[in-house]
Amino acid sequence: MYCMCSDKSFSDIIDYQSKALLPFKKLLNEYTNCATTGCGSCIEPLQIELEQLDLLSIESSTDAG
Ligand code: FES
Repeated sequence: MYCMCSDKSFSDIIDYQSKALLPFKKLLNEYTNCATTGCGSCIEPLQIELEQLDLLSIESSTDAG
């Protein structure tokens, strides 16, 4: 997939994430525009891809949900 809002392909974003594992929200802020000026349509598929690749860093939270 390609994120037009961030002008990056998912593989670019996944590549950054594999080099420095960031919490998902931070990743969106640092590597993409999805959560800021972007349309946001990439957030869910990106999260799923990262989950599948085991590259999703869980943000510190006591909430297990
Ligand atoms: S196309 Fe990726 S956030 Fe809009």
